[in-house]
Amino acid sequence: MISLREEITVPRSVEDCFRYVADFRSVTEWDATAQRCQKVSQGPIGLGSAFEVDCRVGPTSITLHYEITEYEPWATIVLVGKGRFFDVQDTITFTETDDGTRIVYCADFTYRWGLERLEGQLEAGMRAMGAESLAGLKKALSEKPAAPAISACSERADRWVVPGIAMFSRWGFKRSLPQRQPVSQYLDGQHVVVTGASSGLGLATSVALAEAGADLTLVIRDPKKSAALLDTIEAETGRRDINIELADLSLMAHVEALSARLLAQGKPIDVLINNAGALFNEYGLTEEGLEQSFALLLLSPWQLTRNLLPLLADHERKCRVINVVSGGMYTEQLACNRLIMEPDDYQGARAYARAKRALTVVTELWAEAWADRNITVNAMHPGWADTPGVASALPTFRSITRRILRSPEEGADTIVWLARAAEAGDITGQLYLDREPRTPYLLEKTREAPGEREGLEAFLAAQLALTETETPAAA
Ligand SMILES: NC(=O)c1ccc[n+]([C@@H]2O[C@H](COP(=O)([O-])OP(=O)(O)OC[C@H]3O[C@@H](n4cnc5c(N)ncnc54)[C@H](OP(=O)(O)O)[C@@H]3O)[C@@H](O)[C@H]2O)c1
Repeated sequence: MISLREEITVPRSVEDCFRYVADFRSVTEWDATAQRCQKVSQGPIGLGSAFEVDCRVGPTSITLHYEITEYEPWATIVLVGKGRFFDVQDTITFTETDDGTRIVYCADFTYRWGLERLEGQLEAGMRAMGAESLAGLKKALSEKPAAPAISACSERADRWVVPGIAMFSRWGFKRSLPQRQPVSQYLDGQHVVVTGASSGLGLATSVALAEAGADLTLVIRDPKKSAALLDTIEAETGRRDINIELADLSLMAHVEALSARLLAQGKPIDVLINNAGALFNEYGLTEEGLEQSFALLLLSPWQLTRNLLPLLADHERKCRVINVVSGGMYTEQLACNRLIMEPDDYQGARAYARAKRALTVVTELWAEAWADRNITVNAMHPGWADTPGVASALPTFRSITRRILRSPEEGADTIVWLARAAEAGDITGQLYLDREPRTPYLLEKTREAPGEREGLEAFLAAQLALTETETPAAA
């Protein structure tokens, strides 16, 4: 048997350190040999939680099946890992100190298939690996990474356009993994509002943010989905203290009513995630007489965010607004007079792309306007993710690209990162894919003409005023 023992002290609370290590998915952020880790058990992290970890060993990779066999909150975790060639027992203890938390990490390796005879030769390498891993853990729990910049490779890919678009696939997500910085911040006590939380990316985001401790308000439109949503979050995280708000966000009357309720509750918002969306293949008007793509994808998040400004602005803690846009917007140029498509020339994908382009421009305008109100505003696009929305709106696209689509969790990863990572609070006015700022323009011809950007918010205000005068319900 080879036994390793390493000790570190980090300037973090014992609770944060314990949670970070107990959710063993974090291992890929601090152990250089761990390439992939998946939680394979249901339910919140605790006794019996199981993980599958792919570790690099020389030129090859082996899979270890870990299980938490002892779990004493804020004090001790024992993980037993079983692999083809060896088993390992990790015993990790946490002690509060004057300046943070002391973590003692012991790992006992038991070899099989005669490999125990090689222990003498293996030991020095194993010790070096253990020390490196604990240095990684110390860094993950101590340092705030710098805000990311676009990599040379992504810049080149965007310049050549087609490789840039290829990164929307799951390969793009996979490619970005080695560059990632650890995220060890928790959102306890932070109020996060997520729209469109009942399915796809919104659901994946909500589960991840519930795990991170956020105080969640989830906006959904269908009351019948409320119980299932709460059950899913509870099954994954053990939490049921979630506030659900009902609103059909394609209706401005509902946007106003939702805003009024949240304002009346008066709870400051730390993160607002404008995620609700749909691609409408057929032309349609809302009952307020607005073209539905324009209403849901643009006018609604624009008005909701402005309404909620008193809850977002001027906090002690910086507030984050995250707008979920789409890579589809790369095909379209902002032109205010083309944002509302007419029935005879309506194309769902174009209406969708134009609204998402405009929301990206709105993101930049707000970032500038609200910089001195302690609000950051960023847009992200998820790439191509296999969600119920894609399945129903783009069945042919989905059947062709199915093997390369991201999971909802992979699509939602950058939303969660923008909400949670310390360094994400330092950036504003950017468009993100895979935690990296990306150009909002892949094609020069899609840059807006002079005056369009400046006229956008006045155009939206005029459309809203028209809705208010034409809809008795909104009066
Ligand atoms: N998946 C992708 O590849 C992809 C790519 C680019 C951008 N996006 C964007 O990502 C966001 C999430 O999409 P998704 O793929 O996760 O789709 P999804 O699975 O259909 O989820 C969309 C969410 O928005 C909600 N929603 C739709 N219309 C609404 C309305 N009128 N009022 C309130 N909520 C409404 C849906 O509620 P119901 O459950 O009641 O329908 C659902 O919760 C959207 O903004 C989408 O444009 C997705």
